[in-house]
Amino acid sequence: MTATQPLMEIHNLTKTFPVAQGLLARWRGQPQRAVQALTDVELTVRRGETLGIVGESGCGKSTLARTLVRLYDADRGSVRYGDLDVLALRGSALRQYNRRVQMIFQDPYSSLNPRMTVGAVLREALGVHNMRPKTEQPARVRELLQLVGLPPEAEGRLPHEFSGGQRQRIGIARALALEPECLIADELVSALDVSVQAQVVNLLLELQEHLDLTVLFVAHDLRLVRHISHRVAVMYLGRVVEVARTEDVFAAPRHPYTQALLAAAPTLDPAQRTAAPAITGELPSPLNVPSGCAFRTRCPHAFERCAAERPALLTLEGGQEVACHLYDPGSDAPIRLDR
Ligand SMILES: Nc1ncnc2c1ncn2[C@@H]1O[C@H](COP(=O)(O)OP(=O)(O)OP(=O)(O)O)[C@@H](O)[C@H]1O
Ligand code: SF4
Ligand SMILES: [Mg+2]
Repeated sequence: MTATQPLMEIHNLTKTFPVAQGLLARWRGQPQRAVQALTDVELTVRRGETLGIVGESGCGKSTLARTLVRLYDADRGSVRYGDLDVLALRGSALRQYNRRVQMIFQDPYSSLNPRMTVGAVLREALGVHNMRPKTEQPARVRELLQLVGLPPEAEGRLPHEFSGGQRQRIGIARALALEPECLIADELVSALDVSVQAQVVNLLLELQEHLDLTVLFVAHDLRLVRHISHRVAVMYLGRVVEVARTEDVFAAPRHPYTQALLAAAPTLDPAQRTAAPAITGELPSPLNVPSGCAFRTRCPHAFERCAAERPALLTLEGGQEVACHLYDPGSDAPIRLDR
């Protein structure tokens, strides 16, 4: 399906984590330091799409996912979900939102009660939000198992009797019991064997289409992201630097960081690789994010303006969004990267 209607609109979303300060630093009156995990994140999630979120370790992907489901409180910014002001939700309105927008975790085992059968887990989920009257629960449990490709006899078994991939299916079934509109999957399959990863990701693809779900798919593995996502958002040091349709990101990445990230990915088809060099230099500390463009310390195209001014996310012809001064028509950039 073509997804165009916005489901979630994220503006200026910022999240810092204060760093514990030693006595000496406090005595010297040194300013409180903070990890800049998200800085003014701008992103729109469209209804019915799978949006992949990629970027190096520590760039803020999980912080974004957790802030969107209110596991973390944002410092500032806004998240609109339909007509809801997500960051202001409290009490039953927040619980209702958490039913509609659910996070599925990498390790469902840690959140599954080892003494509860799969059937009991699912019935509990159905009961908590009054999703079904008791009499209809057995049929719904069977339906949920079928949806995620587990045999009916799974109902009477305990979590430890299943493999990692099957447990992931149980986690997905538990989420689906609440009939969510949006699933946020953070490194859902990273801990599984490659062959099992493909099965779980394909299941997610089927469910997404079948149930018209919106999915945020956070992952390291660019191959998986490419396989599953309609669009991709690339993050660097707490900022969204590029957002585009998956085929555009992989065929013609615009941001120098995206180009370097793809060039560095060993698993991608060599014919699709860009001529850009792989990323050089160290990832700066999130305690000390460079001024202006956060990527400037590693960018082969950096010029004066990059240190002075933070690039805003611009929409290019064709719809690709990119935060880089090279694409600003008013910029005196020495090189343009249009390819
Ligand atoms: N609860 C926390 N307390 C303090 N710092 C945190 C916390 N969670 C994340 N951070 C810091 O915020 C930054 C972003 O972390 P985050 O986990 O969101 O990155 P990520 O992109 O998910 O990384 P990975 O790919 O390794 O999962 C990192 O510098 C991290 O150390
Ligand atoms: S704004 Fe400057 S430093 Fe940042 S990616 Fe673009 S050219 Fe490189
Ligand atoms: Mg993470």
